[in-house]
Amino acid sequence: MTLRGGPRRGNSLSKIGLRKDGAVLVRQGRIVAVGPRAQVERRAEAKNAEKIDVGGRVVLPGFVDSHTHLIHAASRAEEYELKIQGKSYEEIARKGGGILNSVTKLRAATREVLKQRGLAALSEFAAYGTTTVEAKSGYGLDAANELRILQLQRELGQEQPLEIVSTFLGAHVVPAEYRGKPDGAEKYLALLMERLLPEVVVNDLAEYCDVFCDRGAFTVRQSKKLLTKAKEHGLRPRLHAEQLSRTGATQLAVELEAASCDHLEQVNDSDIRALARSDTVATLLPGCDFHLGWKQYAPARKLIEAGAIVGLATDFNPGTSPTMSMPMILSLACSQLRMTPAEAIAAATINGAYALGREKTVGSLEAGKQADLAVYEVEDYREIPYHFGMNLCWMTMKRGEIVQMKD
Ligand code: NIG
Ligand code: FE
Repeated sequence: MTLRGGPRRGNSLSKIGLRKDGAVLVRQGRIVAVGPRAQVERRAEAKNAEKIDVGGRVVLPGFVDSHTHLIHAASRAEEYELKIQGKSYEEIARKGGGILNSVTKLRAATREVLKQRGLAALSEFAAYGTTTVEAKSGYGLDAANELRILQLQRELGQEQPLEIVSTFLGAHVVPAEYRGKPDGAEKYLALLMERLLPEVVVNDLAEYCDVFCDRGAFTVRQSKKLLTKAKEHGLRPRLHAEQLSRTGATQLAVELEAASCDHLEQVNDSDIRALARSDTVATLLPGCDFHLGWKQYAPARKLIEAGAIVGLATDFNPGTSPTMSMPMILSLACSQLRMTPAEAIAAATINGAYALGREKTVGSLEAGKQADLAVYEVEDYREIPYHFGMNLCWMTMKRGEIVQMKD
């Protein structure tokens, strides 16, 4: 399938450009032609091309995972067990667990450990057919560690094949050392705005700035202050919105023309209308609800029917969604959010690319774009979400290079 033609809303979300017996001609990392095999093979440039016969398998654009917390030092399996026994995510966070638990672990970890974990995670992303990964800081929460994460993301982007799009999430939560202080949250925000943002920008360490705008994290007013400043510095906003409670973060995202507004379990009808009128991508992260055992998933059907640009991402992180598997997210999108397989695939490819400002280079199979593709060991594309918790990805290609292949 080609997914040609830019980001999708409403009825067009399910238009994936299905083609039987197709071929993709690749040269120097880019797609030269896509179309019926006989036609592509007749082209002069195809004469000396090396041929990869995918033998009736399904070829699609590599997944664009537009929301991950790639760099963290360890799992939080200990909290997983507490949650199963009945403690809530927010209760654990209030007692110093949750994000702060990951902050303690990251600050104590060496650069080498973080790097090896990051590399292993990226290779796992690739094994499931993902070729572009957004990555947020946010487990450092002090100047040195936030910068350490962003620098590592840059290094990983240079040293392995997957493309990394960096987001500065210094405003994940208020770190422990500021919580006891009078006006601690404001003082921490001042550190982010006056010290960290300029440093991130001068060193070109991120394209986006995100805020966890929710109960127990940052308010809409605080988020607006930081994201407005970030915008002045040239970082485009994105937001974690309406996950734990309905705060009005979605309206803020639309007002600031954020690239995306993510989670959205608690959105109301006016939020849905606002998203539908905007170009802000409504990125749904059903892995969180699944992992936390929550019953309330985001209202995907309402968002699609209203005309919002709906995206899907893993939200890979140690607290709420420890998975790198985009096909598992597609399975959840289909069975829990009632998205069709075609809608889910478009949300995870071209709409994800749009959420990262990469719709001109990745997210679809079109001449001129990067040769980023995933080949699945299935006869019918609907089998990709249909088989859940399995990895049927047969080959992953990034910029024309085979990154992973099953034998
Ligand atoms: O996207 N909601 C905030 N951030 C992450 C969770 C982070 C964590 O628990 O470590 C999320 O769900
Ligand atoms: Fe997140």
